[in-house]
This record gives sequence, C-alpha cells and structure tokens, in this order.
Amino acid sequence: MTTAPAAYAQVLFVGPDLTHGSFAELFRTRLAALRGTRALDELLDSGDGYALLWQRVQDSPRPLLVIDLEPQSSSAHVDWLRSELAQLDGADGIFVVSAMGRGELLSVDAACALIDQPELHLPCGDVTPLPASHAWSKIPPHQYRVLVCSGPRCTRRGALPLWKSLREKLKAAGKLECAGGVHITRTQCQFPCDDGPTLSVYPDGSWYRLRNEAEVARLVDEVFVAGGQAAELLIPNQ
Ligand code: FES
Repeated sequence: MTTAPAAYAQVLFVGPDLTHGSFAELFRTRLAALRGTRALDELLDSGDGYALLWQRVQDSPRPLLVIDLEPQSSSAHVDWLRSELAQLDGADGIFVVSAMGRGELLSVDAACALIDQPELHLPCGDVTPLPASHAWSKIPPHQYRVLVCSGPRCTRRGALPLWKSLREKLKAAGKLECAGGVHITRTQCQFPCDDGPTLSVYPDGSWYRLRNEAEVARLVDEVFVAGGQAAELLIPNQ
C-alpha cells in the first residue's frame, strides 16, 4: 500500500451540515481558530451532493487528503469514496481518512487530529477494484421495510440510539436484511412528531412509536419475529 506523505499540499473536510446551520456555525468557528480562516475554504458540504467534491479534488494540488466526516460512514462508504476518487487525474496523490464507525459527526479537534495520523490515511491510487456485485449494488433481501424517523424532534427524543438498538436486536434475532427480515431506512420528519420517536412499517403501513429499549425489544419480538402487531406501540388514530 502506498505510504501517506509527510505533509499535504491540500486538505479537504467533507461531510453533511458543514456550511449551513448551527452545527456548521460551531464547526467553522472552531476550525478557523485551529487552522486559520483560510481553512474555511477546505469545507465541502456533502448535503449539497458530491459533484462539488469531485470538481474540487480535480482542481486541488497533490498530495491531497480528503477527510470523510460522514457520520454513517462505513467500510462500504469509504470503498465507494476511494473508488470514485481513483478515477480522477492524479489519483496517486489522493488519500482518504475517515471517521467511520463513530456514528456521529466528529468534533473539529478530532477531525483535525486525523491529519496527523498517517497510519489511517488510505491511498486512492492503488485501490482494489470493486467486485461487480457489492454491498450497495443490490437491494438487500427483506420482508419488511421500516422507515425510522431521524427528524429533529424524534432525534431529540432519542431516535438515533433507538435506531442503533433496533438494528442490533434485529441482527441478534437473525432478522436484519435477510429473507423474512427487515430493511431499515432512516428518514426525515414523518409528521406525527408528538408521538415520536416514530417509525412506519411496510407493507402493512402501520405507524409505531418507539420510546425506550423495552419497546424496541417488544417491536422486534411481536412484529418481526412473531409476525403480528405490537398493538400497544401503535400510534393512535392512524
Ligand atoms: S421529527 Fe419524527 S415525526 Fe417529526
């Protein structure tokens, strides 16, 4: 594997919510304090799409470090990012470092600390070609589609840890992304916020609230393992 350089000519921070909103305000203030105001030009908001990143990388000097701040980043996401960057000119001088597996946006300090951890920098020049069939090339087998709200009010009520717990319990029950199992998608506000955290289950179209670990366990057991309904968790008046 190509060794990371001792220093980079350009660093880019890529992730959602880096240019607009309260998080961006805090992130930008701290980044400017740590790296100077010119560093604000290093931020690319993936919420605006990735076209801007490809263009910016194309125009940037090498060696270049792309810091992936996607909170839901995973090995599959980094594989995809590196394989896309590998197609650009000068890919030998492009490296990626990722906050994968942390499940939340990194603090500015933690993101900047990644620059000085060359052992975590992955080259894009000698990326192994993706197999023809890979994790995000096909629809996972499933019986149920579950839409879990990650809107602002459900998130404030704990939707994200409950979503993680739901995935873990489904996996433990052998019901995650498999035949007869569940495919989960996180969504923005689904509207019955006052009853949240909210999730909806298809194909039957039921709407549930999920407020704690006990309710997650109950949903898994009664709906996805037993194949019934968890009547007490249903959102009323649906
Ligand atoms: S924020 Fe979840 S239903 Fe509105």
